[in-house]
Formats: sequence, C-alpha cells, structure tokens
Amino acid sequence: MFTKQTLLALIGTLALANASDQKPTQAEIDAARAKVLPYSPVSNVKGLAFNRFVNIWLENTDFETTAADSSMSKLAKEGILLNNYFAVTHPSEPNYCMSAGGDAFGMDDDDYNRVPANVSTIADLFDTKHIAWGEYQEDMPYAGYLGERYPQSGPNQYVRKHNPLILYDSVTNDAVRPRQIKNFTTFYEDLEHQRLPQHMFITPNMTNDAHDSDIHVAGSWVDRFLSPLLENKYFTKDTLVLVTFDEAGNYTRPNRVYSYLLGGAVPKHLKGTSDDTFYTHYSIIASLSANWGLPSLGRWDCGANLLKLVADKTGYVNWEVDLDNVFINQTYPGPLSSGDLSEFSPVWPVPATEGACSAGHGIVDIVKKTWDGLKPTYNYTSPVPYDAVSGNNVGIKYHRTLKHGEKESGVTGQ
Ligand SMILES: *[C@@H]1O[C@H](CO)[C@@H](O)[C@H](O)[C@H]1NC(C)=O
Ligand SMILES: *[C@@H]1O[C@H](CO)[C@@H](O)[C@H](O)[C@H]1NC(C)=O
Ligand SMILES: *[C@@H]1O[C@H](CO)[C@@H](O)[C@H](O)[C@H]1NC(C)=O
Ligand SMILES: *[C@@H]1O[C@H](CO)[C@@H](O)[C@H](O)[C@H]1NC(C)=O
Ligand SMILES: *[C@@H]1O[C@H](CO)[C@@H](O)[C@H](O)[C@H]1NC(C)=O
Ligand SMILES: *[C@@H]1O[C@H](CO)[C@@H](O)[C@H](O)[C@H]1NC(C)=O
Repeated sequence: MFTKQTLLALIGTLALANASDQKPTQAEIDAARAKVLPYSPVSNVKGLAFNRFVNIWLENTDFETTAADSSMSKLAKEGILLNNYFAVTHPSEPNYCMSAGGDAFGMDDDDYNRVPANVSTIADLFDTKHIAWGEYQEDMPYAGYLGERYPQSGPNQYVRKHNPLILYDSVTNDAVRPRQIKNFTTFYEDLEHQRLPQHMFITPNMTNDAHDSDIHVAGSWVDRFLSPLLENKYFTKDTLVLVTFDEAGNYTRPNRVYSYLLGGAVPKHLKGTSDDTFYTHYSIIASLSANWGLPSLGRWDCGANLLKLVADKTGYVNWEVDLDNVFINQTYPGPLSSGDLSEFSPVWPVPATEGACSAGHGIVDIVKKTWDGLKPTYNYTSPVPYDAVSGNNVGIKYHRTLKHGEKESGVTGQ
C-alpha cells in the first residue's frame, strides 16, 4: 500500500484551497477533473460486530412518512428497524457536520461553513488503525471538489452541505484525504476492483435523496441501489449498512428519523426485528470506535449510546432515555451560528481530553495534544447532547441498570 509520503511524491500536493473554491468556473472544474485522481485505499481491520460500515443518508422526512413508503418498509424488514434514532438539529448541514466531527459548533444554516483545522474528525480516528474510508457523493464533479454545488446552475445535484468531511479544514488541507471524497460513480469502480473502503458515507443527489422529490423516489433509489448489493458476496460479507435521514421534515416535532440496519453483519435471528434503544447521529461515531477499538473524538460521540449489536459485544450498558421531553431539534449557541435558529458565540467548543467514553478507548491523541489542559465546554458523557447555559435540550431524563444491578440515572442540565 502507498504511504502518504510516496503518494505525495507521486502526485505533488493538490492546490485545491483557493479563493474560487466556493464557485469555481466550469473551466476550473474541467481542469481539476483532468488532474485529480480519486484515491481508494484498502484495509481489512476486523471489527467486533462488522468489518465494513456503509452510511446512506436521505433527506428531511418524518418517521411516519417514511414508514408508509413500501420500498423503505420492505428493506427495513430485511434488517433491524431502529425505532428511536434521532437526528440532532435543523437544518441539514449541521447534521452532516456532526456525523464526522461529533458536534455542529452552533451551525444553524446550510451555508458555506468551514470547521477550523484544529478540530478532528472520524478520519483521524480511522487513521489510528489505518482503516480505509471513503465518501461517495452522487454528481460530485471530481474527488475533493470544494464548490458549493454542481452543476453551477439548473437543478441541484451535488451539494456541499450534504458532504460531511468536506466541511472540515483538517480534511481539505490534507494532501490525500480530499481524494477519498469521490464521485458516486467511483463506488462501482471500487466495487468491481474489490477495493471498497471499510467505512463509507454515501450521499445520493438532491433528487434521489428526497430533498427535491419525495420519499417514494428516495425509497425506490435505495431499493435499486442496495438490493443487488445485498446479494453480492464481496459487498455484503460482514458489512453493516445504515439507512437513515439527516433530519425529520417537521421542525417542531421530535427529530426522530426512520433508520434501519442491513447487510451480512446483521445476525439471521435479528432480521425483521426492531430495536428501541435511543440513538443519535453521534451513536454511529461511538459505535465505529467501539467496533474497531478506536478512541473517541471527545465530543458528543463520547457518551453516545452504542448500536446494540456493538454494545452486546463490548458489554457497554446503554442509557434508556425518557422520550417525553425529547425535541432535539435545535443547535446551541456556537461560532458557526448565523442567528437563524441559534445564537452566535465566538468560542470553539473544547472537547474532553480525559475519560473512557462509551466506546471504552479514551480520547484520540491528536485531540488530547491540541486541546490539552483546557476545560471541556460541555458534559460530553451524557447520552443526549445538551447545553446547560443556553438551556438547549435540558430536562431530559435517562437511566440504566448496570450488570451487577446498580442503578444510575441523570437529567440533562442538572
Ligand atoms: C462522475 O464520474 C463519472 C465517471 O468518471 C463521470 O462520467 C461523471 O460525469 C462524473 N460526474 C460529474 C458530475 O462530473
Ligand atoms: C440524479 O441522479 C440520477 C441518476 O441516479 C440522474 O438521472 C439525475 O439526472 C440526477 N440529477 C437530478 C437533478 O435528478
Ligand atoms: C408539524 O408538527 C406539528 C406538531 O405535531 C403539527 O401541529 C403540524 O401540523 C405539523 N406540520 C406539518 C407541515 O405537517
Ligand atoms: C423545536 O420543537 C419545539 C417543540 O415543538 C418548538 O417549540 C421549537 O420551536 C422547535 N425548534 C425549531 C428550531 O423549530
Ligand atoms: C482552534 O481554532 C479556533 C479557530 O481558529 C481558535 O479560535 C481556537 O483558539 C483554536 N483552539 C485551539 C485549542 O487550538
Ligand atoms: C455529566 O453526565 C454524566 C452522565 O450522564 C452524569 O453522570 C454527570 O453527573 C454529569 N456531570 C455534570 C457535571 O453534570
């Protein structure tokens, strides 16, 4: 396998970060497309519950609306339906952002937001064990494209706001990482050459993900995409697929989104079952860490519940969350707020640098080094993200009974 250094020697550094990033001309796009090669590293690090994880995100649909779509309910019956999976805020972009970095940093819009280079992401976690990762973004014109959308006019197809890792300077400043954020067509090339990564994030275009269409269009896309893959031995063996939504459609309701797990990593006896555990987008980062023995980002992934499939392997006891007061539909104040739905605060939240976290492997070294000695901004050990200062998500009760019978309980903000 190529190391980062040999690759750099081969290709030179990609001069991708410049002033015309946001709205490049078609000529600039064509020039970059001719030059930038997608990169598809391969690894085979065994996990406790799965060896590959495939994240597929659709858009803006309430749980009940999705449940009524025949493709989606059919697929859910082939796996495990997650009854209490919650998105964390509105609108779209902060939800994608948090799936990679463990926080939304106050983001409350779909603008050209950038997270500074001192904030780590799942890419840093995967790097600790050389776990190959990739993103497949439908209609992205070339790997690592930084533009706000593509094409520049006409119906939206690719949009940056639905691309988790591209929002982070710690990813885009790197010479190699942007090349792992690829046009969706590369998925089929990687499949054919058996070089799919162990973690992938798939974003269908704005029609196929229900954003500019409806759940039936999206449900049918997922069915057409996934059903053949679930029959493909190379793809499905020890693979766990999550189909979920960035956020619910109705902002004033609890942000519960229809989500299910599929693939060869779902044990036969669990097919067609459902799971009532409380999950958020942060649970996925925590579960990836627990599955592969990776550390935590020290942000909201730290205390998040683990997917039951993974928790059952590690012995971690998930919190039961009282859903009566759960409306996790708004971001607390932060530096990426534009005042639309949350307030501006100039302070970049400080992550935890100590503690085991639900995944059990402590905090990743780069976070410890960068934020050493600073007091964490929030109580990241909570299974529900909240901010006691602004009152965001406070008053939510949770409890659990540990293996030897000891009971624990808490209320967010108290
Ligand atoms: C994505 O890649 C495929 C294959 O290289 C190419 O045909 C297609 O035009 C690309 N998409 C865009 C939007 O450029
Ligand atoms: C979205 O992708 C589909 C193919 O999957 C394509 O037919 C369509 O043109 C793309 N864009 C839009 C805006 O629908
Ligand atoms: C959103 O949810 C609220 C509360 O359940 C309901 O009153 C309202 O009608 C819903 N709005 C739409 C557009 O469905
Ligand atoms: C979140 O939901 C609550 C309860 O329905 C509502 O009062 C509030 O306005 C919602 N927040 C947003 C940003 O829509
Ligand atoms: C992280 O970067 C932000 C934005 O540049 C800066 O305000 C903050 O002080 C930095 N924090 C640390 C610990 O490097
Ligand atoms: C932080 O959350 C944990 C776990 O939910 C709880 O036990 C602890 O009391 C909280 N700490 C503070 C300072 O609120």
